[in-house]
Amino acid sequence: MTILSTTLGTVFYLLQVVSGESGYAENGDLEDAEPDDNSLLFSFSCYSQLEVDGPLHSLTCAFDDPDINSTNLKFEICHSLVGTDCLNLNKLQDIYFIKTKKFLLIGDSDICVKLGEKNLICQKVDIVTIVKPEAPFDIEVIYREEANDFVVTFNTSHLQKKYVNQLMHDIAYRQEKDEKDWMHVNSSNTKLTLLQRKLQPDAMYEIKVRSIPYSEYFQGFWSEWSPSSHFRTPEINRAGLSLWYGPVFLIIRRLWSNCVRNQKR
Ligand SMILES: *[C@@H]1O[C@H](CO)[C@@H](O)[C@H](O)[C@H]1NC(C)=O
Ligand SMILES: *[C@@H]1O[C@H](CO)[C@@H](O)[C@H](O)[C@H]1NC(C)=O
Ligand SMILES: *[C@@H]1O[C@H](CO)[C@@H](O)[C@H](O)[C@H]1NC(C)=O
Repeated sequence: MTILSTTLGTVFYLLQVVSGESGYAENGDLEDAEPDDNSLLFSFSCYSQLEVDGPLHSLTCAFDDPDINSTNLKFEICHSLVGTDCLNLNKLQDIYFIKTKKFLLIGDSDICVKLGEKNLICQKVDIVTIVKPEAPFDIEVIYREEANDFVVTFNTSHLQKKYVNQLMHDIAYRQEKDEKDWMHVNSSNTKLTLLQRKLQPDAMYEIKVRSIPYSEYFQGFWSEWSPSSHFRTPEINRAGLSLWYGPVFLIIRRLWSNCVRNQKR
């Protein structure tokens, strides 16, 4: 959720609860609420998923502070809806969620945290700019000996969608034994190649992919990562070195590849 909080874009607070000190209240139900505190206390982040279940879209919101006591708090979205003014989100443990066909997908909505009938805090949100794609899946890596490369393919449910079907994918891979430095490649395609010479020979790699909307209209956040896939690189990365197959050279080759690995560290 912290990713969301940093990128919500043009968000502002619509304070309908006015402090008693100002001597003025909008709708008479004046309490000793403090708006300045509310914006910190009840700050929240939301993301949308379009056509997540057939024609249904979803909206998911959560408080930025996971320890907040949300027992009596509700979320409501109003405006830019089809056939209704407002909709309530359902509470599912720590998150608030709705699946609906009623998002107009044009213009701003107001998402408010409510205590009873009172709005504690609101954000103006354009549903199409807070889209979090579904995670890609089925990532596969196939070695092409003739081309000295690896063909990486994966699938995404967004290929079948009408709205959010242009994505940028972040393909991340790393050698399994040094579990820190992920290498990244961007691709707007679900197929790409990795050159063999850029990878260590005879090594196990882990690879995964995530997606972000990549169009002028639909914008938002990174998806979750796909499940990881694993692949092994062949022992030699140069063609025609048949000598390397000889038994005498087995030991030399081991030493040599260890040496290369150590140098690359
Ligand atoms: C949360 O607030 C409700 C009512 O406001 C209260 O009944 C409940 O005990 C609180 N829970 C915790 C864990 O503080
Ligand atoms: C991608 O996944 C969808 C199901 O979500 C499936 O219908 C389709 O055949 C898959 N495409 C490929 C290339 O595997
Ligand atoms: C990859 O694409 C993302 C999303 O468009 C962008 O933020 C990032 O800078 C790109 N990275 C590279 C290395 O091009």
